[in-house]
Amino acid sequence: MKEKLQALCTEIETAMAEVATSRGLYELKVKFQSELKGVMSGMRDLPKEERPAFGKIVNEYKQDLEEKFETRAAAVKEMEMQAKYAAERIDITMPGKAYKAGALHPITLVKNQLIDIFAGMGFKVFEGPEIETDYYNFTALNTPKDHPARDMQDTFYLAENLLLRTQTSAGQIRVMEKEAPPIKILSPGRVFRSDDDATHSPMFHQMEGLVVDKGITLCDLQGMLAEFAKKMFTSSTKVRLRPSYFPFTEPSVEVDLSCSECGGKGCRLCKGTGWIEVLGAGMVNRRVLENCGVDPDEYTGFAFGMGIERIAMLKYGVNNIKTLFENDTRFLEQFEE
Ligand code: PHE
Repeated sequence: MKEKLQALCTEIETAMAEVATSRGLYELKVKFQSELKGVMSGMRDLPKEERPAFGKIVNEYKQDLEEKFETRAAAVKEMEMQAKYAAERIDITMPGKAYKAGALHPITLVKNQLIDIFAGMGFKVFEGPEIETDYYNFTALNTPKDHPARDMQDTFYLAENLLLRTQTSAGQIRVMEKEAPPIKILSPGRVFRSDDDATHSPMFHQMEGLVVDKGITLCDLQGMLAEFAKKMFTSSTKVRLRPSYFPFTEPSVEVDLSCSECGGKGCRLCKGTGWIEVLGAGMVNRRVLENCGVDPDEYTGFAFGMGIERIAMLKYGVNNIKTLFENDTRFLEQFEE
């Protein structure tokens, strides 16, 4: 019996040295315990007086092996941890991936600046649809079908009475139809015309302004534009109004700013004139007020419309409008604030 016990213990010890996983060790321990039970059940066959002595030996072997199991378990666990660390090793000296934060597009920057300037004068922002009806884009703005002024804008028609808006002026009508004066709105947005050269793009952005109230005059327009020019460009920027024509304003003006490049002396940018044309404006035509249910004998108003690209090009010295739409990050990065 004692030999049997010894043989079992030697076998388990040898196996233990070869097991390299916690799971394998656990299984071996279970096997040992069940086989030890088998050996112990043989005790019944021993003479009664020998039993206590043999029981003592069994206990010693058992204790000895259990200690060995524990030592081996600790070693195996350590091996397993080392393997895990090696597999999950992170090289903290490796250079990281740099994620570059984007920046606002110059058109957005200028649009936000314009909104800031005019919001400071009490304007609210209204945004109309980019696909407009003929009525809002032209007819209600005193430009009925066959009106020669339709030639001023080369329009993308989608259907007989549906088009890509050519001007944010359509927003004037939408606001006046809904709201009673006093009105003071700013309408920024994308507009579309079949134009394509260094200073024109088939898609560009405009910012419309509309003020309607009792006693509004051209002086109010001029004063407000002078304020805008100073805030957008420099405190010495001057404003000049020249007679012009738009079907929806009467009188109509073209607004020039003194050249920011030469300060008005005359240079290449202003073609030697000292002035740069920046926007169209005028007193809202009586017919337009009437079309929107506003009494032109009680209320007057002014409107203006400017190209955001044009302002951005002047402000940042960009000479080709296309560079604003190519999305070349080397170009766009220059405007990060
Ligand atoms: N809508 C005109 C244009 O696009 C500009 C304008 C707006 C003129 C408002 C007068 C008043 O050319």
